[in-house]
Amino acid sequence: MIIIECPKCKHKHKIPEDKVPSTPKIARCKICGYKFPVNLNKDLSKTKRIGVCISKGGVGKTTTAVNLAAGLALGGYRVLLVDTDTQGQCSFLLGVKPAAGLAELVLEELSPEETLFRARENLYLLAGGRGLAGVKRLIDREYFGGERTLSDALSKIERDFDFVVVDTSPGWDALSVNVMFYVTEILIPVSLEIMTIQALANFLKSIISIQKYRTELEIKYVVPTFLDMRVKKKTMSMLDKLKSLYPDKLCDPIRYNNLLSQAPVYGKTIFEYAPGSKGAQDYRKLVKRIAKNPDLFN
Ligand SMILES: Nc1ncnc2c1ncn2[C@@H]1O[C@H](COP(=O)(O)OP(=O)(O)OP(=O)(O)O)[C@@H](O)[C@H]1O
Ligand SMILES: [Mg+2]
Repeated sequence: MIIIECPKCKHKHKIPEDKVPSTPKIARCKICGYKFPVNLNKDLSKTKRIGVCISKGGVGKTTTAVNLAAGLALGGYRVLLVDTDTQGQCSFLLGVKPAAGLAELVLEELSPEETLFRARENLYLLAGGRGLAGVKRLIDREYFGGERTLSDALSKIERDFDFVVVDTSPGWDALSVNVMFYVTEILIPVSLEIMTIQALANFLKSIISIQKYRTELEIKYVVPTFLDMRVKKKTMSMLDKLKSLYPDKLCDPIRYNNLLSQAPVYGKTIFEYAPGSKGAQDYRKLVKRIAKNPDLFN
């Protein structure tokens, strides 16, 4: 038996272990009717689930998700990169062509093993792509619990990994909501332009609307991207603004570096294409912070 206490009336409910949900669910107290989130597996799973998200396009989400995942894998962690974007660009950045991916996993068309693609040592990919349109239709058809579709599918495989890094599409749709119900940590790449800072404010409102139902969802990292010191005054004022808003979440910036946009042409990560570049140095720093291991790569 597991005891779940209602946060409102404090009644202690006894639940048989085989009735305990494997993924987070909304429970309803039978005494007072209060609805509250329960996530009994929260502390059982050691896997860190990080979503790279912001509704604005072209700010470095995919570049960050791929190089962060690759850097963690190089550091010896077992990493799953999940591409939830119909553009399917994670495969392109890694120079691989998986025959199946996330859509086949969620739609249960293939076994989990058949949908995972080993992209590098320690780095597995659940590819995105146009098939995800079918996943969005599935989510829309669900009467209840459609927001947990991704969590239910990933819970079958995530235990084998130290980190799950989720790349997301620009905009806000049923799949973005599903990502918010799966990850516990959000990493927001913020390109240092005024339009992105404005988009950030709107995106935060969307996150707050989800946090009402998922208290464990946390904005953990704000990563400035496209840092360009040729426009020093403008850049510094935007960095200062981010620092005042997110003093403990703000990470060291990723500098503007042409090699980051060239590497995908060769299907290589920045660590493979230009290990000594500014791009590789900056992403290595981010990996160390997220792995909480300052000595990694030394
Ligand atoms: N620090 C950087 N310096 C130079 N170019 C970069 C940098 N980061 C990303 N790029 C390039 O900028 C473009 C947009 O980056 P990316 O695809 O990662 O953004 P995104 O947020 O995933 O876009 P979308 O919203 O379309 O998914 C790409 O061509 C990428 O190679
Ligand atoms: Mg992208």
